[in-house]
Amino acid sequence: MIEKQLEDILQEIFKSCNYEIDKITVSVSNRPDLGDYQCNDIFRLSKMLGKNPLEIGKEIEECQLPIVKDTFKKLEFVKPGFINMTLSDKFINENLKKISASPKFGVTEQALETYVIDYGGANVAKPLHVGHMRPAIVGESIKRIINFMGHKVIADIHLGDYGLQIGQVIYGLKKEHIALEEINVNILNRLYPQISNLCKEDDDVKDMCATITKELQDGNQEYKKYWQKILEVSIADMKKLYDFLDVHFDLWYGESDAYAYLPAVKNMLESQNLLVKSEGALVVDVKKDDDKKEVPPLLFQKSNGAYLYASTDLGTIYQRWQDFKPNHILYVVDNRQEMHFEQVFRVTDKMGMLAYKNLEFLGHGTVNGEDGKPYKTRNGDAPGLQELFKQAKEIFIAKKSENENMSEEDTRKIVNAILKFADLQNSREKDYIFDLNKFSDVTGKTGPYILYTYLRVNKIIKSLKLTDLDLNAQIYNDVDRLLRLKILEVPKVLESAYQERKPSYIADYLYNLAVCANSFYSYNHLMTLEDKEKQKNWVYVLTLMNRIIKELLYLLAIEIPSKM
Ligand code: ARG
Repeated sequence: MIEKQLEDILQEIFKSCNYEIDKITVSVSNRPDLGDYQCNDIFRLSKMLGKNPLEIGKEIEECQLPIVKDTFKKLEFVKPGFINMTLSDKFINENLKKISASPKFGVTEQALETYVIDYGGANVAKPLHVGHMRPAIVGESIKRIINFMGHKVIADIHLGDYGLQIGQVIYGLKKEHIALEEINVNILNRLYPQISNLCKEDDDVKDMCATITKELQDGNQEYKKYWQKILEVSIADMKKLYDFLDVHFDLWYGESDAYAYLPAVKNMLESQNLLVKSEGALVVDVKKDDDKKEVPPLLFQKSNGAYLYASTDLGTIYQRWQDFKPNHILYVVDNRQEMHFEQVFRVTDKMGMLAYKNLEFLGHGTVNGEDGKPYKTRNGDAPGLQELFKQAKEIFIAKKSENENMSEEDTRKIVNAILKFADLQNSREKDYIFDLNKFSDVTGKTGPYILYTYLRVNKIIKSLKLTDLDLNAQIYNDVDRLLRLKILEVPKVLESAYQERKPSYIADYLYNLAVCANSFYSYNHLMTLEDKEKQKNWVYVLTLMNRIIKELLYLLAIEIPSKM
């Protein structure tokens, strides 16, 4: 990583001027007109030593170590306490070569750990809608990023397969005398909203649905048969949609699978005196003295014996802890569930399964309409995913007549790029406004723009058919230099995306890289270039850039179509 190298080099320079400084931080300059990288530590040092920063700065500037000449075109102190670094061509190119030689673009090796990542979280028997896209897209990307860093990652969808919606659908099926073998996805998609609305109006129906759910959980055989069939039909339909999105889970466990572990969890809680009776229910106290917001007790078991959402999450953690011994469990779930996970994590920690710090709630925002509220169609429903994919496709095709002839598979890839890039460029915890028309433009910060850039560069590289690509020590002009500098940022971007679990860093970077690429090839006419040496150097840079774009798109789960 370039920042680390520059920190070490500065450290050496400081030392040669007889300054001991504990830690130096270098970052990409926020004033690119003044330098490529910057360091703000002189300020701190001058305070520590009680010495004028100007004096220290002067000494640094005048340092005669050979490494200074090798690394920098310019090393400059600026008032009140900055060092601006302009890198030498040689240093830039050496580092490009290092990145190119590394299968992972020079990211720092990590000690192997096991992660479980819980995302998707769809609910059986409810149709998947726009709201389900976010955890699927964000979770899939975080999974790939962690995996890229060399860790073992187990992805679990954690289906909501045992909740009230099941009782509601069984109620509807029985009311309409629908036989088991007749159940299909259209019936489920119709029944769920119908009965769930009915429950809002009619308390008797609501009670009946709750009773069915409870009896199912207690082992009622008839309901169990319905439940199994509902699961089969609903999961088959979900799989199609997740496949379309290239979202893949290793485990298709659900809340129902947690029940087998609840006695063990209850035992553990009891033996550690963590369960407390409260109005007939069993709860676990989790509040802490320094809580800024009240954290209510976790409700483990109701007075009628029923378990709840939090209990199943504990059961699931128990199972993961036993089966995989994970170092980390990550949850990509709607922001609104933050408190639930706070309670669950505290109990998990108290029980001695996983430490609090190894449980991460990676909350995501909502997909909103123009009005700032969760995105809805004109009739007031959240649009189904299938419908949304169709719309994205139609809008993209309508943009250009050639788009009509695109293959099914290419169109699917482009639809993915449209939806995912639009989503992932937003910091995951923020909401964003859904605007398919904007998302599918070929210019601007969109998926199609990145794909287009890649394909265009790829075409140039292929048609030139150059072999023995190499880099000499030169950089030929400003746009060339900017592109090379942008490429140098890749390891840092990957590491930050990994550390903060933020695919948006990668999306941002991809966009900035594509902007550099576009100015590069509109200014430098590669195809007609006389100077073969220069051409080979440039193709080397572009080849590396496209390798990076491809890998980074993979980390966002965006595939590249054959043409656009
Ligand atoms: N099915 C849940 C919902 O729709 C999300 C599940 C999130 N994962 C978990 N382990 N609780 O709200």
